Amino acid sequence: MKKFYLTTAIDYANGSPHIGHAYEKILADAIIRTKRLEGEECYFLTGLDEHGQKVAETAQKQSIAPQTLCDRVAEDFKSLCTRLTVDYDDYIRTTDERHKVVVRKILQKLYDGGEIYRAEYTGLYSTQAERFVLERDKVDGRWPDDIGEPIELKETNYFFRLGHYQEWLVGFLNKHPNFVVPAFRQKQILTFLKEPINDLCISRPKSRLPWGIELPFDSDYVTYVWFDALVNYISAIGYEEERFGDYWPADLHVIGKDILVPAHAIYWPIMLHALGIPPPRHLLAHGWWLTRGGKKISKSLGNSVQPLDYVDLYGADAFRFFLLREMVTGQDGNFSHDLFVARYTADLANDLGNLVSRLISMVERYCSGKIPQPASEEPLDQEIKESARRLILAVRMEYGNFAFHAGLEQIFSFVRQLNRYVEARAPWQLAKQNDVSADRLKTTLSFVAESMRIVAELLRPIMPKIGPEILRRLGATPVDVWKNLSWTHSQAGKGILTGEILFPKIEWRERSAMSSVPI
Ligand code: MSP
Repeated sequence: MKKFYLTTAIDYANGSPHIGHAYEKILADAIIRTKRLEGEECYFLTGLDEHGQKVAETAQKQSIAPQTLCDRVAEDFKSLCTRLTVDYDDYIRTTDERHKVVVRKILQKLYDGGEIYRAEYTGLYSTQAERFVLERDKVDGRWPDDIGEPIELKETNYFFRLGHYQEWLVGFLNKHPNFVVPAFRQKQILTFLKEPINDLCISRPKSRLPWGIELPFDSDYVTYVWFDALVNYISAIGYEEERFGDYWPADLHVIGKDILVPAHAIYWPIMLHALGIPPPRHLLAHGWWLTRGGKKISKSLGNSVQPLDYVDLYGADAFRFFLLREMVTGQDGNFSHDLFVARYTADLANDLGNLVSRLISMVERYCSGKIPQPASEEPLDQEIKESARRLILAVRMEYGNFAFHAGLEQIFSFVRQLNRYVEARAPWQLAKQNDVSADRLKTTLSFVAESMRIVAELLRPIMPKIGPEILRRLGATPVDVWKNLSWTHSQAGKGILTGEILFPKIEWRERSAMSSVPI
């Protein structure tokens, strides 16, 4: 059976992971967890991009073999995933034999079919972007940061007939207006395609760059890193094997906006089409994390945020929450330590964490530790029930559109509504009064408990530890799929469990333990 197949970009093996890498994995993981809760069978691929000039240069600077560097970096990136609770199914490395075999097979196929030819080319080459660039790549008359200052280069190389498929690609994009999410980025691609596109140089002479997959038809050359890297999406799932159809076409490639054009929106669909394989169903191009000053956070710009500092101090769930709450999916977002602390304190520690501990202690104190049956309902209670019901539908819809920021916004606005409800009802007063108030007390606590159960369920894709932990404290079993999530009082009579503070306040002193928070 065809699975929902999702991939992330494969990270360059030339440095340690930063917030941009962490964000993309977390976003992808939240999508996968949502899909699973929606009852879909899923497959989640991520991995490492290990060839190319940048990796070779970094290894040289460290006086180690490129493979040694890649092995180290692979461990760092994999352990980042583990620490972030990013639950991938497969991790592909472009130095894996299973990958190299497929790259060679594809090159040979395209070469035999006349899709690849040899020619001499003189042009501007960007070491930063590892490709030939054109004047039109300039932004406002200047080379952008991800291209840097190119050099003039004259070289004999192998070229893939990209230009030949331009018209096909335009037709395809017009037929599939939702190919790229968000939609405004699809328009950027069509604008790019208004000018003729060049054929793609898919080789690098070994004399200049020996670190790569050797061309099967010319041992003096290695494969261009992007041509090699893109193939990971099909090499990992058994290209030309029987199981391939269980995964392909990929349902979603999650990537950053910087690698949409030309790599994922132009090269990749054309490479696949030339091979007789359908393109992926959708590309989700997310934005960049920027410093407050508006600069992209990246290793090469020397301002990276170490995700593990945040995980160590605040826990993976808090970090996942911040990244998905703060970034409007598809747009850029600002990261600063102060912003992080403000959200952590207001949303997590005060609004959510306090409500959970208040509820647990009230159930303990006033109901002998058992969630009560609701008694009579008044309009104030019914409002809560209605809001909870609406929340389930709204959040499922927002998550389904990858709008985690919007889903979380609604969840936390409901949590604030619950806090107001508790204040208005003041269970500590009700506990001292008559029979009517005893009924109100039961209804209030059972309604807050049921609401918290729903909130915890809806937080599961974002906070895979805290969501289930809140359910555990409520004596609840997580639902298998969200279609079974509704307002019920199945918790009535269940014993609650106490536990440690979910989101402890972090002292300034402890913050100085962080290795790097430069922004
Ligand atoms: N190796 C290529 C991708 C090949 S995919 C076949 C690459 N690697 S990368 O390490 O530079 O970037 C990996 C992913 O992280 C990209 O999708 C990129 O957009 C994302 N991010 C890197 N820095 C980022 C931010 N500051 N913010 C958000 N994501 C960004 O590109």
